[in-house]
Amino acid sequence: MTYIHPTQAAEFWEARYQGDDRIWSGRPNPLLVREVSDLEPGTALDLGCGEGADAVWLASRGWRVTGVDISSTALERAARHAAEAGVGDRVQWERHELGVTFPEGSFGLVSAQFLQSPVPLDQDQVLGRAAAAVAPGGTLLIVLHGGWPSWQEEPPFDVEFPTSAGLLVALALPDGSWTLETQDTARTPSVSPEGVQGYRDDHVWRLRRTGQ
Ligand SMILES: C[S@@+](CC[C@H](N)C(=O)[O-])C[C@H]1O[C@@H](n2cnc3c(N)ncnc32)[C@H](O)[C@@H]1O
Repeated sequence: MTYIHPTQAAEFWEARYQGDDRIWSGRPNPLLVREVSDLEPGTALDLGCGEGADAVWLASRGWRVTGVDISSTALERAARHAAEAGVGDRVQWERHELGVTFPEGSFGLVSAQFLQSPVPLDQDQVLGRAAAAVAPGGTLLIVLHGGWPSWQEEPPFDVEFPTSAGLLVALALPDGSWTLETQDTARTPSVSPEGVQGYRDDHVWRLRRTGQ
């Protein structure tokens, strides 16, 4: 893989957020809602939080959330969203270029929802650190696109999508310390910018840290 200076990732995402008033829907990711609704609230880390919809949803359910993103524009929008939702005091926002720096501490829930990028990102390393940040008894939730949407005729750029089994191999979590609670591929509706209806296959892994 070509080495990309870290600032190229920051520049890419900053330009992406600055190019539009809003990129994402403002609603929490359905697979996060599905997997987390039954958990007892505690502390949560949302990696690649974007405009903050997941972090705000978690905070509104009683979690104390740290939202992390590479883009300061995204984090400013996320903080505004949290304040408007009345949960500004339950979320703190940190700017990190994950892979270079990582938030301190351990958390009852570490969530990475679509932490994917057209700019190379060492996903295995970052997700390995995500696992290390889960407190004993806590949950690691990873959701990643497994491919392009069905309506996408030509891939717009080269990217390697994870497989459901491949990510677990790459994480190499120690035997006996983790329980795999969900390993699933969910087909979710996806609409192209031109309004073509289709679907996307997303992989979900939920693991509980049962040991140190
Ligand atoms: C595909 S978006 C997903 C956003 C959000 N989690 C969601 O599901 O709507 C990927 C997010 O990861 C962030 N990101 C990409 N590379 C990053 C990096 N190296 N460090 C921190 N955040 C990064 C981007 O700024 C973007 O907000």
